[in-house]
Parts: sequence; structure tokens; C-alpha cells
Amino acid sequence: MSGENSIEQLKSLGDGRFEITFAIADDMLFDIDLQLQLFCVASGQELQSIHIRQAGWDVAWLPRGRYVAEVDAGSVTLPTTGARPKALLWDQTNNKPRLLSALESGTPITEGRIAVPDRLQKPSWSLRSLDGLALEDLSWNRGHDDWFFKHFDHAARVIVNLMLADNELLKGRVLDVGCGDGMTDLGVFLRCRPREFVGIDPSRRFDLLDEVAARNHIPDDWKRDPALRFEPFDANALPFDDDHFDVVLSWGSFEHIVGGYAQSLREIRRVLKPGGLLFAHPGLFYGEYGNHLGEFFDDPWIHLKLPPEELEKRVKATPPDYMDRGGEFASPDDYWQWYTELNPITVTDFEKELRDLGFEPWRVALRTSNLVEYTPELQQYGFEQLANTELYVSAWNRK
Ligand SMILES: C[S@@+](CC[C@H](N)C(=O)[O-])C[C@H]1O[C@@H](n2cnc3c(N)ncnc32)[C@H](O)[C@@H]1O
Repeated sequence: MSGENSIEQLKSLGDGRFEITFAIADDMLFDIDLQLQLFCVASGQELQSIHIRQAGWDVAWLPRGRYVAEVDAGSVTLPTTGARPKALLWDQTNNKPRLLSALESGTPITEGRIAVPDRLQKPSWSLRSLDGLALEDLSWNRGHDDWFFKHFDHAARVIVNLMLADNELLKGRVLDVGCGDGMTDLGVFLRCRPREFVGIDPSRRFDLLDEVAARNHIPDDWKRDPALRFEPFDANALPFDDDHFDVVLSWGSFEHIVGGYAQSLREIRRVLKPGGLLFAHPGLFYGEYGNHLGEFFDDPWIHLKLPPEELEKRVKATPPDYMDRGGEFASPDDYWQWYTELNPITVTDFEKELRDLGFEPWRVALRTSNLVEYTPELQQYGFEQLANTELYVSAWNRK
């Protein structure tokens, strides 16, 4: 399909309902919003302005194609002179909303009232594809239970929009250290379109990315883009020149680098340009998700309560409650091996290590547990260790 991202048609269906037909011409649009406005014909005053996002929709992306949204504008009293509807299509609504197209209907609506008079009616929306795409299958409709959503949508947005604030450096050269299956990388790459994006991970799980992306209805244009590539490199010995990258990312990987991550942090600093940005989300060993054994136990601090031999016995004897990991299934022995390799990262230590290396914190976000219940075995651990569940940091490389 060629052409523009545009609203093609806005039609009144009566009773306060409208149909908005729009076309997406780019491979994909991200963080989309649709808006319907109603203006008084006589005064030009805005009577109603409703957004699909306000109605609880999170349209994180749509691929190229044509779509129809139907909207019930909810309770609004129309002036006798009538109202003129206008539809607007936005993207990049997380940080930098961009108006892509707007269309005003030439025909005003003249019914005295467009919602049922004896009840309050909230705006509601529906969306369908005109090309047969099953929108219920898209990651943003499945939400946080879905592995692809957690990476392609959630992780990419935390990195790009929240922690790096859509910084221009994301258009330069970007490295992801410990990229795993590459879903987050694809999400960041398609959102930012950097000059170069390299994901590295010795596990080579990124080899499955083509298949996973196709299953998730991501248009395959990215496969032909040489700017994105994956390599099985080791974080401890990065085969890149000094000062090569503008941004280095690492999501959930520092805790997994066998033998500690001090060397990989030094390598990251070396390959990052002066003034470059680091984003890090290191797993916190003592926190709620710290043992990475959630598939086996409900008690998040069980690794701090049981003797190691007992923990091992239970892991190896329990069939894991498999979560969707993009189609990969590990054995209890694998889980145990990964557990024994974990680095016991804490917020305080990680901050000190970053500062000692010359990183200057820019943004920090911490998530904490709702409640930590101290048992005798936990008394030896501090509040900060147990209550912090997730740490996100962005920092400038000051050389
Ligand atoms: C929990 S996974 C996270 C992967 C990905 N970032 C994600 O969010 O799905 C941790 C990853 O760190 C990788 N890793 C471990 N040691 C590494 C090393 N020395 N160099 C690069 N990656 C490493 C593992 O192979 C694994 O894929």
C-alpha cells in the first residue's frame, strides 16, 4: 500500500455513533490514538472531545492497512444549530504526540441530542481491520500475560519513552547487551529507527525472532533492513571499537552474566561514546522476582528461607508452571543451573558501581513490593534488599 497515514472517511451513523475509516501507509505506527471532536456549528465551540486511549484502549501499534473505528460519543447535548464532527489520528502519544491526519465532516449533525436522554452514557469504541487482520491477536490486546507484549511493547516503551525520554541518541548507534530472543530489540528498533542496532547474546535465541515476529503479525520489512543485526558475542569482550555506540541497553541480563558483571560494565563504558547513554534493568536478587524461580514457587523469598540443598531438591522435583516464554521451555535442571549463576545485585551496590565507573545517573525508577512479611530467616536482610523489586536506571557516560 502506498500513500499517507490518513483518515479517509468520517460518517455519522445516527444516535451519537460515528464511523472513522483510516489508512496506515507506514510499515507500522506506534502508540496510536484516535480522537473525535464535536463543534457547535454556530459558535465553533468544542462540545465534545473523546480519545480511544481515554476509553482504556492501549493501541500500542498497528501494521500497515486500512481500519474502521466505530465510536459512540456518549452523552452530549447538541445545540439546535447542530454540531460538526471531526476525527483525528495521532501516533507517538507516549512522549511526543504527532497529529498524522484530521478530517472534518461537511455534514453537521442536527438531532437535538445524540445520547439516550435518561442515562449517562460513556464514550465507547470498537476497531476492526478491513484487511482481515485479527486485532484480538495483537500483543497490546493480550497485555502483560503475553511474553511478546512484555518485551516488544512494555520493555521497549520503558526503555524508549520512560527511561531514555525518546532521546535523539536513540537514532544513532545502539547496542543491547544480553538481548535474549530479541523481541525488545525489535520493539526499540521499529520505534526509533536507529542508524545501527546490534543485539548481542551468546544464547542465539534471537535466531527465532523471524518466526516469533511473524506469528505476532509484525510486517516483515524489518528483515531486509541491515541496520538491525544480532550477534552471539560475549558481554565480557565486546568486539567493537572504543566510543562506537551512542546508547547501550541491558534488560534483565547483568544478573545472569556468569562470574559477575564488573567486566561487562567496563566493556560497555569503553564502547559507549563520551556523553552516550546507558539504560540498565538489572535483576535484584533479594527482591520479589530475584530468584527467577517463580515458575516453581509462590513465595518470592523462598530462596532466602530454605537451605540451598532443600531448594535444589524442590526445584528438581517440581514440574514448573510454564509461562509463555515465546515458545521456549526449559527443564527444572536448566532453571536450577541459572539460579546458581545469578549475581546477587542490590540497588545500593549497583548505584555505587555505576558511579565509580564514571556514569552519571539521569533517570531512576524503582518498583517495590506491596508488603514484605519478615520471618525469622529473613531478619538478616535489610528493608532495601527485600522491598525493592525492580530497578531501572539511565545514566550518562562521563569520560
Ligand atoms: C533473562 S535473559 C534476558 C534476555 C532479554 N534481555 C530479555 O529481556 O528477554 C538474560 C540473558 O543474558 C544473556 N547472557 C548471559 N551471559 C551473557 C554474556 N556474558 N554476554 C552476553 N549475554 C549474556 C543470557 O544468554 C540471556 O539471554
